[in-house]
Amino acid sequence: MGNKITVKDFREMKGGEHKISMLTAYDASMACLLDEAGVDALLVGDSLGMVVLGYDSTVPVTMEQMLHHAGAVSRGTKQALVIGDMPFGSYQVSVEQTVANGVRFLKEAGCDCIKLEGGEEVCEGVLALVRAGVPVMGHLGLTPQTAGQLGGFKVQGRDMSAARKLVADARALEAAGAFAVVLECVPEPLAGVVTEAVTIPTIGIGAGADCDGQVLVTNDMLGLFEKFTPCFVKQYLNLAPVVKEAVQSFTREIDSKKFPAAEHSFGSEEDYRSLLIE
Ligand code: KIV
Repeated sequence: MGNKITVKDFREMKGGEHKISMLTAYDASMACLLDEAGVDALLVGDSLGMVVLGYDSTVPVTMEQMLHHAGAVSRGTKQALVIGDMPFGSYQVSVEQTVANGVRFLKEAGCDCIKLEGGEEVCEGVLALVRAGVPVMGHLGLTPQTAGQLGGFKVQGRDMSAARKLVADARALEAAGAFAVVLECVPEPLAGVVTEAVTIPTIGIGAGADCDGQVLVTNDMLGLFEKFTPCFVKQYLNLAPVVKEAVQSFTREIDSKKFPAAEHSFGSEEDYRSLLIE
């Protein structure tokens, strides 16, 4: 086991031989598995809302829900950088509210840093967070919290003016002090240009191979979330049928009294049957 990855280490991975790996996590046991497998960063994404809490979007997710799960992930992680995702409404009202909520991720949930969505419009908050000692990862391209305004879950930056804005937003985040930026659903060549345009690492999801790193939603890449799978996801395992088969075996074996067997039960020399006639 190596040392805990810091924001500084993460930033220094930019442009190096090693490409950054990042996965989402929402609980301590999965965080522990992913951490022991050697992933660089764990994002407690607000995808929590859809993947774990059963909402149709990330919009209803609250600060309390995020802190609850982020705390569990921090406790399950030894090495990976832990990033808490600021939910919708937690950084839109005022700079004071943004800083107060960002601080809670570090103070109450033990996260190393936070992530928030948006470009130039969030930079005042980013600057204030960084000044307050809260490291910030940006998130550009398809920003699920405001997907409605972007015309739904679609590839972003397809025309030149949207592409120009994406590059400007990435530069603005860097200037405000962000240490990295997620690029979601962006054409590969544009993600490559953004990666060249900034000195901070870019982490792609549906943004091609030219980013400094890649992130996926763990439940998607393990085949645990069956509702829908975005086309940019590579499924490394298809665990849903495996889980269902295991549960079917469990219920069958209970019915047939195959489970629990002697090795799963506590034996005793005592004859407790005498209790029935006392
Ligand atoms: O909430 C999340 O899981 C995310 C990733 C998809 C980057 O923001």
